[in-house]
Amino acid sequence: MSNRTFTLAEGQPVADPSVSTTLPTFGGGGLTTLGDTLLIEVLSHFNRERIPERVVHAKAAGAWGEFEVTNDISSLTSAKFLNGVGKKTPILFRLSTTGGEKGSADTVRDVRGFSVKFFTEEGNHDIVGNHIPVFFVRDPVRFPSLNRSHKRHPATNRPDWTMFWDFHANQPESVHALMHLFGTRGIPDSIRRVTGFGVHTFKMVSADGGFRYCKFHFRPTQNTTHFSDQEATRMAGANADFHTQDLWDAIARGDLPVWKLYVQIMEPEQAETYGRALFDITKVWPHKDFPLIEVGQMTLNKNPENYFAEIEQAAFSPSNMVPGIAMTPDPMLQARMFAYPDAQRYRLGVNYTQLPPNRAICPIYAPFERDGMGTMTRNYGGDPNYVRSSLGTGVPSQIVSNVRHTERIERNAILGQNEIPVDDEDFLQPRELWNRVFDECERRKWVANVSETLEDVPDQLRDAVATMFSKVDPRIGQLLDAKAKNSSRL
Ligand code: HEM
Repeated sequence: MSNRTFTLAEGQPVADPSVSTTLPTFGGGGLTTLGDTLLIEVLSHFNRERIPERVVHAKAAGAWGEFEVTNDISSLTSAKFLNGVGKKTPILFRLSTTGGEKGSADTVRDVRGFSVKFFTEEGNHDIVGNHIPVFFVRDPVRFPSLNRSHKRHPATNRPDWTMFWDFHANQPESVHALMHLFGTRGIPDSIRRVTGFGVHTFKMVSADGGFRYCKFHFRPTQNTTHFSDQEATRMAGANADFHTQDLWDAIARGDLPVWKLYVQIMEPEQAETYGRALFDITKVWPHKDFPLIEVGQMTLNKNPENYFAEIEQAAFSPSNMVPGIAMTPDPMLQARMFAYPDAQRYRLGVNYTQLPPNRAICPIYAPFERDGMGTMTRNYGGDPNYVRSSLGTGVPSQIVSNVRHTERIERNAILGQNEIPVDDEDFLQPRELWNRVFDECERRKWVANVSETLEDVPDQLRDAVATMFSKVDPRIGQLLDAKAKNSSRL
């Protein structure tokens, strides 16, 4: 690297950036003055170098990579980045914990966020998913409350299991996500080996305008592996950035992490009678009914050169969709399509789309969004800044999205209802998980993991939690009760 002369922020040469200027005075001593532009620039920039961290998913690692199509699905979607075996698309990846702050430990029991930005020729497409297939709530108005109950108590400023369980015992639609969270999956031992789920139901739209419902799944090509509670707790103290380091070191030594991308597809005719699980993100679509179809593979191949610029300033959003993939009436998805860009305008400023990690690689022409703090482009020069001008050069896109947004579903998909009451159906898939997916060892660990969190919870709430899980399987309630009795005898 060639030597570079130090300067001020606007380029004036600086002799020594480690020495501030003092004006000598007659009689000895010196004054530091307002004329010391170096000192003033350095101090005032320092005072402004923090930006708000993400309100959730603040702690993360990220990297650049590439997505390659391995199976042509052009019959399902017109999205160009998914068409043609061998087609490559640059991507940006970010893997986060949910509840902890930016400086918190990596190896905690938590849902991991799994974000991928595809820089396609038709604009950016983001999959902003999680490492478990289901979510805690299905009404977006509960999302802030959910997260506060997992974060710090307003008085003690500490995470608080009483608050956590108080939320969940009264919002038992979260039971399926809780089954996953307290299973082995809850503490991955490496970012390179986590699964990623788009979670929501999206639409794939083909060139003729027909659509099918779909879900996205990323699977690591290495086996998923996990930490025990004890290993994770030790590591959280020994190296709070263990996952961040593991990802960085692997990429640096050329041991590149790879995930396969799959989709599940549901025909609109199947959706007509599928019921509420179609758009309810506390439910999965069983693989036996909707098998995984391979689409491509994602390889991470480059560490960021600067974490703040490239990862902290990254703005992922479920609203970033390219033609060929479309939204559905899932109320959580709809709310997220508003919430992310809104959060990013606050966190990064109104022109966050111009920042390097968010800038599309295709031509952008959005002359009706201009000016504002931090404009970094030529800001469309003198082009008309009002619509339907005869003087402008903008032309309509030829790729008109002809998706029909009439959902073909039966009435009991219950989309018109504000609250979908929790009923027996909510316990079916958690029961499957407990009985068929978990083995006895996993069941024992699950009970131990939950029991630990219940130790300081008031009796009444502990009973409510046991009652909730008894609806998954009466044995869970009995095991939780037995553990509670044992620990109170000690
Ligand atoms: C109504 C429901 C939800 C709301 C309102 C919501 C809101 C938010 C907000 C405001 C952020 C911070 C964005 C930023 O500052 O850049 C965020 C981050 C995130 N959320 Fe959600 N969220 C919701 C549900 C979900 C669900 C269901 C998933 C997974 C399927 C999810 C995954 C993520 C991920 C991965 C991030 C981190 C994005 C990144 O890497 O920068 N969220 N969420």
